[in-house]
Amino acid sequence: MRLTLVAGARPNFMKIAPIIHALDQAKAKGQKIYHQLVHTGQHYDDALSTYFFEDLGIPPPDRNLAAGSGTQSQQTASIMIAFEQYLLENPCDAVLVVGDVNSTLACSLVAKKLLIDVIHVEAGIRSGDRTMPEEINRIATDAISDYFFTTTAEADENLIRQGIDKARIFLVGNTMIDSLLMTREHWLRPHLLESIKGDPGYVVLTLHRPSNVDDRRILNAILDRINFSIPDLPIIFPVHPRTRKNMVGMKVHPNILLAEPMRYLEFMYLINGSRAVITDSGGIQEETTFLHKPCITLRNTTERPETVVLGTNELIGENLDKLEVVLKRMVNGEWKSGSIPALWDGKTSERIVKKLGQIYL
Ligand code: UD1
Repeated sequence: MRLTLVAGARPNFMKIAPIIHALDQAKAKGQKIYHQLVHTGQHYDDALSTYFFEDLGIPPPDRNLAAGSGTQSQQTASIMIAFEQYLLENPCDAVLVVGDVNSTLACSLVAKKLLIDVIHVEAGIRSGDRTMPEEINRIATDAISDYFFTTTAEADENLIRQGIDKARIFLVGNTMIDSLLMTREHWLRPHLLESIKGDPGYVVLTLHRPSNVDDRRILNAILDRINFSIPDLPIIFPVHPRTRKNMVGMKVHPNILLAEPMRYLEFMYLINGSRAVITDSGGIQEETTFLHKPCITLRNTTERPETVVLGTNELIGENLDKLEVVLKRMVNGEWKSGSIPALWDGKTSERIVKKLGQIYL
């Protein structure tokens, strides 16, 4: 079997890495699955891409399509044009995509129109919020995929409701957690922590959703309110490039420690040692649930409801008064410790590769 794996943006790398390692192991045992890795180049900075390859032990991609940034459509279209050329030159039996970024949708569309199977890992999750490009990417990718690997039973139900044949859906767990467990012994203490005097602990903040960062007044109000609510706790804020662009000239309280986006091994150390995380990311909701860390999500909806129902996540939307209330509650230690969803056990990639063998060999 010839399999083409696609990765394009930061949250893809921790999902694809353990699948590559599991494929290598299967091949070493004699399974005839041959894979190629294509990096679309959606993310191209060292901080969002190169360091993740190093930290997660991902070999250099067989091809980098260097699609780069642009509007939603420009980026999706550039990836499609380059990936079509790649697949015409390098035919395969199936294309495996992960997650919900523009690269996921772009490569699925190209593969399917070339009559190549599409395998979607992290299929079926839904926020119900169609203003998010990721939700459109999820719905459209799942509409044309052939095989669906899911993280939760709820994702299975979403797919079945969409008319997908049950026999093509496989509940396998979460490959992000495979990466977390695979690297745990190697997490690195970020230098930035040296600047925190005494032992008050710290809170981690990440923001990159357009609804939180594209309007400077909204971004400023969020930062102000966090600082006002927990003035005694340092806030470590690794700033995504999209957010950084909108912060030029913005005065930020010294209690908020700005940092470059962190490499994976440092970021995992950071959240594991934190008092809590405030975020609008998807993946961090899962990582904090796994690590039993309070997670305050600045979004109205989540495609990962299990992190709220079972885990440590609370959605607070855009309501800054609510943010203040939950931050004070967190400081007082009043937070659920949560439990870990089934099959988030570090063996998801093995299950995926085993199933691929059953399907294709
Ligand atoms: C993308 C994903 C999002 C994911 C996020 C994680 C989509 C629709 N969104 O959003 O799901 O959570 O990545 O980071 O695919 N930029 C750089 N360097 C880079 C890459 C981007 O400076 O290496 C800048 C670009 O110029 C652009 C901005 O960051 O202005 C946003 O990049 P883009 O890939 O379009 O989307 P993200 O907001 O990163």
